[in-house]
Parts: sequence; structure tokens; C-alpha cells
Amino acid sequence: MALPSQSRAPRVTLSEDPPSAVRGAEVVAVPVLGGPDGPALGPGAAELLDETELDAFALLEQASATGKAGEAVHFPVLDGTGPRDLILLVGVGDGTPADLRRAGAALARRTTGKATVATSLAALADDTGLRALVEGLVLGSFSFHRRSTGAERPPAEHVVLAGLGDPGSRQEALRRALAVAEAGWRSRTLALVPSNEKNPPWLAEQARAVAEANGLAIKVWDERALARDGFGGILGVGQGSATPPRLVRLDYTPKKVRRDTPHVVLVGKGITFDTGGLSIKPRDAMMNMKRDMTGAGVVLSVLGALADVDCPVRVTGLLACAENAVGANSIRPGDVLRHYGGRTSEVNNTDAEGRLVLGDALSYAVAEIGPDALVDVATLTGAVKISLGLRTGGLFANDDALAALIRDAGAAAGEPLWRLPLVADYEPRLDSTVADADNAPGGPGAITAALFLQHFTGGLPWAHLDIASVGDSPVDAHEYTKGATGFGARALLHWLELREPLAGVRAAR
Ligand code: BES
Ligand code: MN
Ligand code: ZN
Repeated sequence: MALPSQSRAPRVTLSEDPPSAVRGAEVVAVPVLGGPDGPALGPGAAELLDETELDAFALLEQASATGKAGEAVHFPVLDGTGPRDLILLVGVGDGTPADLRRAGAALARRTTGKATVATSLAALADDTGLRALVEGLVLGSFSFHRRSTGAERPPAEHVVLAGLGDPGSRQEALRRALAVAEAGWRSRTLALVPSNEKNPPWLAEQARAVAEANGLAIKVWDERALARDGFGGILGVGQGSATPPRLVRLDYTPKKVRRDTPHVVLVGKGITFDTGGLSIKPRDAMMNMKRDMTGAGVVLSVLGALADVDCPVRVTGLLACAENAVGANSIRPGDVLRHYGGRTSEVNNTDAEGRLVLGDALSYAVAEIGPDALVDVATLTGAVKISLGLRTGGLFANDDALAALIRDAGAAAGEPLWRLPLVADYEPRLDSTVADADNAPGGPGAITAALFLQHFTGGLPWAHLDIASVGDSPVDAHEYTKGATGFGARALLHWLELREPLAGVRAAR
């Protein structure tokens, strides 16, 4: 079953014509550069002024444009001579990638419902800038709905990046940008699907579709296979639900693979709804818990885009999927679960379920794959929200080079991560009287959760992204649309497309 029909991302094409010469465009958008000497019109504006009655002074002054990135001022055109009815002046600030990402998102928001938009926003940008612009443009137009009446703000259908010197030479940058943006789009969509449609078997079917479309190998464990192979954490968390748990493995192999090609494993938390279980959440805290599979959605979306960004390393994705429900067969406080490979956890809080499913998947990765690096992505703790607020994700790592690579990729991608410490002195909080660890070790919650996971990583280079802080945007903010953010997909792709994603990382073997 495919995702129900939705608004599609705008089609983006490249052209060397100035934007005002793009046939059929209803909107012409030109950049306004900011700066200490006041705003200045950028490329594409001269041609536009030539053929309209407007002058630069009127455009800038009447619209009070400042050139600040993210600003977009309307200039309606009422001459009735052609399809064009709107001129947009879009601030690009200093033209940095971050500025262009915001400019792209601002353009997207002002052009919803349009058929064709022509813009010279990319005319001054290098490939990095063009990518940021397109990622902002596509993700800023993201929409998801289940309205009988259709989308409220459907994205523009077609955006022409005009005024480019040599469009052919920019195709590769555009292709990568669209792949990364599509991954972000997909992970937002998956997170927003309501949980009456989205359960672990459904998520596994989505993974099958992505695998088929992108030539990935896939293996799915159903509840019987999970029991056979000893995945007690995933089974335990899922046992209270009317829909059974799943573990999904996806494998990407680069085109030029060699025996010594490094291998990365990505693990995603795939709780398709988190009620808290018997340690039930209060109403407000349960509100957004359909998004508790964001980590798995991110990993799936990343796997689907690796070929498009020409990722040079092997990558395995593991999606640990279960619904944390309240039922007669739910796990109880005090129950002990036996994870893949034998480690045990005492479940003193059934709401600390993410670490229980991740423990199984991490142990499996260590035992069966033995990768050069392990990275997990999870909406794991409310505590990380309190530590970092809603715009920065938590990053933990036992390897400084790996931490730096992922942090820098996040910064470049517009998904900022802040490294938090794995404080060994807090280890005793994990002590259980009956099992290898207590799943509810108390505060500081983001750190003790990470310490809990660390026991399953076999000492391999490992990074943990706690994205509970950033999984949901309370407002439209640049390329983030209100609601699910799909946070992590862009950061991981900007990392995995590097020529050496493991440069300087401690050798695992
Ligand atoms: N899914 C939640 C974490 C979460 C909170 C995600 C807010 C997104 C927004 C997780 O399973 C959870 O419930 N964590 C508990 C752990 C505690 C019981 C040790 C928490 O953070 O309160
Ligand atoms: Mn929980
Ligand atoms: Zn959860």
C-alpha cells in the first residue's frame, strides 16, 4: 500500500534565460542582496525593469525590501498583458548557503498554488548555494493533509531556476539537492501519517516500496522471526499492541564496492505510536506520539537517497518498529526483557521503550554486521528538549572524529546538532537489582538514556542522535513547516555523501 495521494514537491528545472524571459511564468522572483549600504537588486532585475514600467527605486522603496534572508516582498502586476501577475523580491542576505536556504523557503511560501515560477535566485550561487536554495525551496513547500477538499496550500508546480551561466554544469548539484530534499519530504510524510494508518507492518511495507524503487536488499522480521531470533526488546515493547512489531533491514551497496569498503549501520527508533504503555502518558504528552517513529522514517528516507548522492560506503539501515500500546498483554513495570544476544533489561518504566527496541537492533548490528560505525536516530527523551530547546538536536558519540563529521554535516544541511557528554560517573544510575540494567535510570535523562544504549554498541565507533527536541516544529520557520520536521535525513545524507565519511574515525577492526 503506497502513501495516500498528496501534494507533490515542485518540479525544479534550470535555464539560462533571465527569469523575465521564462515563458508562461506567473511569478518572477529576483534576489535582493542585503548589505551595509542598503539593499541592491540582484541578477535578473535589469531585464525585468527593462520590460516593465517599474524602476529599481520603486521596486525597492515601495516594497520596503531590506535584502534580509528569508524576506519576500510582493509586487503585484496588474497590467493584464500576460500570465505574469506577481513580482517577488526575495532577500538573499549575504548569499551564504544558510541565507539561500531561507530564500528558497520564502519563495516557496509566497508561491503556493502557482503553476510556474521563474527565479534568478540561483544566478549568483555556487553548487553548495544552489543545493541549499533547492533544499529550502522544496522543504519550505512541504505539505501533508487528510482533507477531503485537497491541500490548503499546494506547492507551486514548477520552479525554473533561471539566469544560470551554464545550466548543464549545474544538473548534478540539482539532482543531489532534490534527492536530499525528497528524503526530508519523505521522512516528514511518514511521521505525519496518522497511527490508525501507520503501524509496524505498514512501515515495513513502506520500506519494501523504497527498497524496490532504489535497488536495496531488504529483510523483514515478523513477530515469529523476531521470537525465533531472540529480539526480546522489540517483541516486549510491541506485545501490548493489536498490530505486531517488525524489524526491517535494508542494505545499500555502492557501485564501486571493494572488500575494504567501509560499512556504516544506521538504526532508527520506529515506535508507530507511544502511549507510554502501562506507565501511561498524560493526554498532553501523548499528543504528538504518532511521530515517535521519526528515527526509522529518517533512516528509511536516507537509505532511499544514498544512490542519488553517490554514497561511497556500504550502509545498512535497521528499523526497529513496534507500537507501545496499553493492552492486557502489555509489558508491566518490573518485567525483565532479554535482548538480542542475551543482555537483559528491567522495565521499570514502560514509557522508556525506545531504548528497549534500539538495544536489540544495536546488538544485532554488532553481532551480525560488525560495522565501522554505528549511528542511531531516535526521538528518545523529553529531557533533550529541556536541554537544547526545539531547534537543536542532541548528539552523543564515543568517537570525536565521528561526532565532528556528523555535527559538521548537520550544520551544513541546516540541521544543527549539539554534542552532549557520555558521563561515565552516571553509570551507577543504570544499576538494576535483577537485570543488566534498569531502563528508567532517572536524570539527566538524555545522558542516562545514551549510556543505556552504549552498552549495546560493543565498543564500536558510535553516534546517537536524540531528535526528540527537533522532531516537531511548533511554527513555520524557514524550511521547517509547522509539524513534523523529518530532522536528521539531511544531516545524515550530507555526511554519507562525503568522499570519506569515516575520515579519522577510530578503526573498528
Ligand atoms: N517518545 C518519548 C520521548 C519524546 C518526548 C519524544 C517528547 C518526543 C517528544 C520516549 O519514549 C519517552 O517517553 N521517554 C521518556 C523516558 C523516561 C520514561 C525515562 C521521557 O523522556 O519522559
Ligand atoms: Mn515513551
Ligand atoms: Zn517513545
